[in-house]
Formats: sequence, structure tokens, C-alpha cells
Amino acid sequence: MRVVLGVAGGIAAYKACSVLRLLTEAGHEVTVVPTAAALRFVGAPTWEALSGRPVSADVFDGVPEVRHVRLGQEADLVLVAPATADLLARAAHGLADDLLTNTLLTARCPVVLAPAMHTEMWSHPATVANVEMLRGRGVTVVEPASGRLTGKDSGPGRLPDPEDIVAQALAAHSRTGPGSARRRIRPGASAGDLAGRRVVVSAGGTREPLDPVRFLGNRSSGKQGYAVAAAAVARGAEVTLVSANVTLPPPAGCRVVPVETALELQEAVRAAVAEWTDVVVMTAAVADFRPARYASSKIKKTHGEDDRSAPTIELVRNPDILAGLVADRAGAASPYIVGFAAETGDESGDVVHHARAKLARKGCDLLVANEVGVGKTFGQDESTVHLLVPGSDEVRTVGPVGKDVVAGAVWDVVVPALADRGTAD
Ligand code: C5P
Repeated sequence: MRVVLGVAGGIAAYKACSVLRLLTEAGHEVTVVPTAAALRFVGAPTWEALSGRPVSADVFDGVPEVRHVRLGQEADLVLVAPATADLLARAAHGLADDLLTNTLLTARCPVVLAPAMHTEMWSHPATVANVEMLRGRGVTVVEPASGRLTGKDSGPGRLPDPEDIVAQALAAHSRTGPGSARRRIRPGASAGDLAGRRVVVSAGGTREPLDPVRFLGNRSSGKQGYAVAAAAVARGAEVTLVSANVTLPPPAGCRVVPVETALELQEAVRAAVAEWTDVVVMTAAVADFRPARYASSKIKKTHGEDDRSAPTIELVRNPDILAGLVADRAGAASPYIVGFAAETGDESGDVVHHARAKLARKGCDLLVANEVGVGKTFGQDESTVHLLVPGSDEVRTVGPVGKDVVAGAVWDVVVPALADRGTAD
């Protein structure tokens, strides 16, 4: 396969040498296209020696063979690692002021960008908007790792390990490149990395009625679920949004199924899954209990002089819908199941400790643990989440970031896992 390896001007450029080695050793023909700034970190002779090909950052080299257009046109995969904030901005806005950005504009193959930068730059609204725009166009933007950055600080922004980058790039190629036509692509659907996938997202919070005017509810706003659904639509999925008592406008392009109670939500999710679903994301806050009895007329206070009595409300357990979906799975065609969990740390362990135990109990494929507490998560625009998958001690922490960024991070974990499982049909 013909790969263009773009390298932007960040200190992580040295790690791109390992990315290049992994690609060439796997038998790919790799042309390295550094930016001028990247060449200040790692020189052209290093790239030329490792790739066995000439290297240039300049559109005025190789003019007779129209190199600034040919490289992109002929590539089977374009991978940029590291992608700086500046490169993301130029790519998002279609600038073409050097050979790499020209290549990005002319490429019609899968494009994978692996950002690396300081946390402040990664979480800046300008970068967040650029990433969103790129993902909306079907570009795979790999979620940066969290950890030690250049200098004393640490946080999200590290370039992931070269093995990880190569695995995600090759997965993106097998998903969206030629030869991946087994998936059902709807006419007019965007060619994102979820094209041809069917996704069910539950959002909001259930209400369990006591009588015609009262219910037991919770504080879920539905923002996170709506962001997950919107991101899936932007990446090309066909999305059913099972929406429990959310007042937000639903994202364009979703099929919305409104529900009120946990039992209705279970019914709607099951019906959607029965049709054929690749992924279920349970972001909804589902009531664990409901009143044992529904009073068909309003429960009244008594009006006796000294009567201070109040009714006792008996509760019964609701089904655990997520655990039920996991239990119902049969074989390879079963959907990939994502759970969300609101967690707080306590004296017996921190948020991640409790989340790991919950992942084991629920048996889902990915657990997204929200840190909750006073002023955290519910109804807020930003949250911090920890993403955990079974069989790995690795925890991906994202935040505090907007819920749309959390949504992107969730899909960045799910999409490669779907590719590893093969296609749905
Ligand atoms: O056990 P806990 O409520 O913390 O688990 C949260 C996850 O389980 C969420 O994904 C939520 O949608 C799901 N859940 C469910 N059915 C319930 C309670 C929670 O599917 N009765």
C-alpha cells in the first residue's frame, strides 16, 4: 500500500521515525512529507534513509511531475503523526500552503491525523472546533494519549505509541478504503468511519410515574447522549436516538424514539437492536427503581386537623437494561455495547477503581465513567471521563472537555474495535 506519512512540527516528530519503521517493515511504500517546522526537529536525511525515498516539504520541488497533486491522488492512506494544532487548523480550513496540506486536499483515500500538543492547545475551543470539523468530513482524528508532555506538565496531548497509531491508521484504511465495500452504505450517507453502521443511543433520564402528576426522576439533561448521537451521524452512522425526557432539540439526521419510563426505554432499545445494530451506547440515566403501584388519580393529602401523615411509597427494581443486552448477546453478530457510569471516589477507592468493578459487573465492551459531584457532569457543558475496556489496565482519561469531545473519544475507541470484529453482515 502507498502511504504518505505527514510529519508536522512538534517535538513528537522524533516518534514518527518509529511509525515510519513500523510501516516500512510491514511492507508499505512510505513517502514522508514533513512540514518546514518538522524538519527543524528531524532532518530530511533521517526520513530519506528510513523511507528510502526523497523527501521534500516544498511544493516547488518535483514540479514537472506535479508532485503537490500526485502524492495525494496516488496514496492509499495519508497519516499525519504528529499533527500539531496548526496543522489541524490548516487541514480543517483547506489551506494549501505547503506540500503536506496540498496532499491532504488532493487525497481521496482514508486520512488519519494523530495530534500531539500541550493540553491547553488540545482543549482550546479553536482546536476542538477544528477536530469536530475534520471528523465531520470523515477524517479519523486519533485521540491523544494522556501523560507526561514536554517540560514539566502532563495531561491529554501526548502522541500515542507508534504501534497504536499504525494500528489505528491501518484499521481506518480497512474500514473506509477500497475493499471495505461489504458494509451497507446508504445513498447520500457521509463517508465517515461509521458509514454503514447502525447505532442506538439512549439519552436523558427516565421518569417513573407515581400518579398522573408526579414522578421519580433524575437530573440527566441528555446533553451527553445527544452529543454521542450527533457525532455518530457526523461520522456516517444511521442513528436511532432513544430519548427519555430531554428538552434539547434532537441532532439532525437521527431517528428519535421518545420514551418516558425505564420499561419503555428497554422496549425501544430492544426493538432497535432486534432490527440489526452494530453499537448500543447507553448514556441514559435509567431509574433503578419504580413505584410498585401507579395511582390513576392524584395521591391526596388527608385534611384532618392533626393529620401529619404521609404515604409510604413502595418501590420495585427496574431491569438493568444494559446488563440485559449483554446477557442476550449471541455470537459475533451481537452489538458492541457501551455503558456510561456516574461515579464518585470514596474511602474504598477512586473513580477508576469503582468503574473497573462496574465494567466487570456489567460485562459491556466499553465503560465510560463520568466523574460526578457538586457542579460536575449533570447539566454541565464539560465533563471528565475515564474510558475502560475489559482485559486491559489502560485507562484513557479525557477532560475536562466539552461533551462533544467526549463523544468523539468514545467513537475513537469503538470504531477500531468494530473493525477488529469485522463487518456486521
Ligand atoms: O449501575 P449504573 O446505573 O451505574 O450503570 C449505569 C449504566 O447502566 C448506564 O449505561 C445506564 O444507561 C445503564 N443502566 C441500565 N439499566 C438500569 C440502570 C442503568 O441500562 N436499570
